[in-house]
Order: sequence, then C-alpha cells, then structure tokens
Amino acid sequence: MCSKTKKIILLAIIIAALQLLIFSGTSSGIIADSVHNLSVSGPGPLKAALGSEDEICIFCHTPHGAIVVDANSNRLPLWNRSIAGIDAATFTLYSSSTFNAGVLETNAQRQPQGMSLLCLSCHDGVSAINVLQNYGQYNPIVMEFGYDQLSDPPGPQPGNLGMDLSDDHPISFTYDSTLRAADNGGLGLKDPATIAPLRLFNNRLECATCHNPHEQGNAVEGTEPFLRMTNLNSEMCIKCHNK
Ligand code: HEC
Ligand code: HEC
Ligand code: HEC
Ligand code: HEC
Repeated sequence: MCSKTKKIILLAIIIAALQLLIFSGTSSGIIADSVHNLSVSGPGPLKAALGSEDEICIFCHTPHGAIVVDANSNRLPLWNRSIAGIDAATFTLYSSSTFNAGVLETNAQRQPQGMSLLCLSCHDGVSAINVLQNYGQYNPIVMEFGYDQLSDPPGPQPGNLGMDLSDDHPISFTYDSTLRAADNGGLGLKDPATIAPLRLFNNRLECATCHNPHEQGNAVEGTEPFLRMTNLNSEMCIKCHNK
C-alpha cells in the first residue's frame, strides 16, 4: 500500500471514530429524556395530561415577553415563570460557625437570587409548575392526575426542597478572591477561575453552578442528577474544595 492510501485509510478511521463519539454523546443526554420534560411526552412523575401541553422548553422559557432580570439586576435566560412571589419570600438559610460567606454577606444579601429562584420557582414545593408568563396553545395547562406541585406525587419527594435551605449546600453568595482568602487562610477553596465546567453567575454560587437543568446525566456515570460534571469519587466537590 502506498503511503498516500495508508493516510486516507487512517483519516477514514479517525472520522468514523469521531462520528461514533459524537452520536453516542447526543443520543440520550437531551432534556426530552429527563424529568425536566414536563410536557405530555415527559418520563417523570409530573407531566402534562394527554391532549395538553406538548412543548418542553415552555415550562421554563419563552421567546417573547420573557422575564429577563430579577430584583437584584441579575440577567435571566428568557424566563417564562414569575419569580416575584418567592423573591419576596424568606427562605431559611445555611449557617455554621466556619461558614465565611455568612460573615461577608448579610442574611438579606444571601437570600436566593435570580438563578436559584429559577429552580426554586418549582423546587420550593408550593409553586404551581403549570402557571406561566406566556402560554402557547394550551391555557390552562392540564397536568396528569392534577399534580401541579413538586409536593404532589405520593411517595418520596427528593425534588421538594421546601423553604428550608439550611440543610442544603449553601447557595446564592459571592465566591471570589475575598471569600477564598477568608476561608482557612486561603487554603480551603480553589481559585474560582479554575472550576469549569462548573460556573458562577455574576460571581455568585447558585443552584445552576453545580446543576445543568437540561441534562439529567443518566448517560454518563456520576453526572446524575443533572450535574455539570461527574461526582464519582467526589470529583465535583474537590473542584472547589481543597480537601
Ligand atoms: C426546568 C427548566 C428548564 C427547561 C424545561 C429548559 N431550560 Fe433552558 N435554562 C434553564 C435555566 C435554569 C437556565 C439558566 C442556567 C444555565 O444556563 O444552565 C437555562 C438556560 C438556557 C439557555 C442559555 C444558557 C445556556 O446554557 O446555553 C438556553 C439557550 C436554554 N436554556 C435553552 C433551552 C431550550 C431550547 C429548552 C427546551 C428544549 C430549555 N432550555 C428547557 C431552565 C430550563
Ligand atoms: C418547571 C419546574 C422546574 C424547574 C424550573 C426546575 N425543576 Fe428541577 N425538577 C422538576 C421536576 C418536576 C422534577 C422531578 C420531580 C421530582 O424529582 O420530585 C425535577 C427534578 C430535579 C432534579 C432531580 C431530582 C431527583 O429526584 O433525582 C434535580 C437535581 C433538579 N430538578 C434540579 C433543578 C435545578 C438545579 C433547577 C434550576 C437550575 C431546576 N431543577 C429547575 C421541576 C423543575
Ligand atoms: C455545590 C453543588 C450543588 C449546589 C450548589 C446545589 N446542588 Fe443540588 N445536588 C448536588 C449534588 C452533588 C446532588 C446529588 C446528591 C446525592 O447524590 O445525594 C444534588 C442533588 C439535588 C437534588 C436531588 C434530590 C436530593 O436531595 O438528593 C435536587 C432536587 C437538587 N439537587 C436541587 C438543587 C437546587 C434547587 C439547588 C439550589 C437551591 C441545588 N440543588 C444546589 C449538588 C449541588
Ligand atoms: C462550585 C464550587 C463548589 C462545589 C462544587 C462544592 N462546594 Fe462546598 N462550598 C463552596 C463554597 C464557596 C463554600 C462556602 C465556604 C465558606 O464560605 O466558608 C462551600 C461550603 C461548603 C460547606 C460548608 C462549610 C462551612 O464552613 O460550614 C461544606 C460542608 C461543603 N461546602 C461541602 C461540599 C461538598 C460535600 C461538595 C460536593 C457534593 C461541595 N461542597 C461542592 C464551593 C463549592
């Protein structure tokens, strides 16, 4: 075989391998297969009743007339859910004697802001998940069995965080060099510039810092539930914590 033919064969093998990689990556990592698909085609415990809403994105986003800013001027991604009610509500926050963000920021400043309120507009367990800013073809959206809150399905309710966030990883505070210096003499936390694929929003740690609401993560080991990276061997925790 001449070297040119060898090169062509090698190239063909590389292309085939790449295609395999791309297709296996997209085959099940999509929102339609996740419990965040609340439309009639959803696989989870909460979804639209037969003959009602078939759009998936509509439960969170709208292309027109969206809510794009919260009370603290954080930009929001074309949001289709009102957060005004829970923005005014008071959540019980995490605290501990060694929690430095709790010293650097007041409790009022640490109340959940935009990005986390987006999640809590369903995960507080009391907000109705089928009440939207802009409806599509279906108004009202009829839910299967009438279940329209995360506290509705009988049995365990892991998704229902409630208004008490004191037993959850702290959220909604600034993670920057000041916090880093305050934590264990600068030795406790990693430089926030190095935490990708985890991400901050306006330098703040929010629910979506660790979670990607669009991918349940059951296709890649350790990325469930909806995690931005694998937490096998606590890999995600040590992306931020020097432990
Ligand atoms: C359960 C709620 C929810 C659903 C359903 C949802 N999203 Fe999102 N989306 C979010 C949240 C929260 C953010 C902000 C956090 C982030 O960027 O990951 C976001 C951000 C985005 C962004 C901007 C940032 C980025 O990550 O690129 C785009 C684009 C987007 N969504 C598109 C979609 C599309 C298209 C659909 C439907 C196929 C969809 N989303 C369904 C919650 C949702
Ligand atoms: C439109 C409503 C809605 C929004 C907005 C929403 N979720 Fe969910 N989420 C659900 C529902 C419904 C479930 C499945 C029911 C359950 O697990 O109790 C769920 C499940 C989850 C789960 C998996 C729970 C499990 O049992 O494995 C995680 C993690 C999660 N959501 C995180 C988030 C995060 C983080 C955000 C914001 C970035 C968010 N969700 C925004 C409705 C929502
Ligand atoms: C520091 C990272 C981090 C932040 C911030 C975070 N989570 Fe999680 N979350 C996780 C991990 C890791 C798991 C999986 C835990 C497990 O396997 O027990 C999880 C699990 C969940 C679950 C599944 C049920 C459960 O309790 O195990 C829900 C629902 C959820 N998160 C929602 C949220 C919401 C809403 C927020 C913001 C209020 C949030 N998370 C903030 C890391 C985070
Ligand atoms: C995106 C970065 C990030 C990730 C991922 C993360 N953390 Fe944190 N965590 C922080 C920051 C920042 C603080 C606040 C530290 C402070 O203010 O003292 C914190 C606080 C904590 C605290 C409370 C510390 C105290 O002094 O009260 C514990 C415990 C903790 N994290 C454990 C975990 C575990 C376990 C995981 C993995 C499931 C995890 N964290 C994932 C950034 C992160």
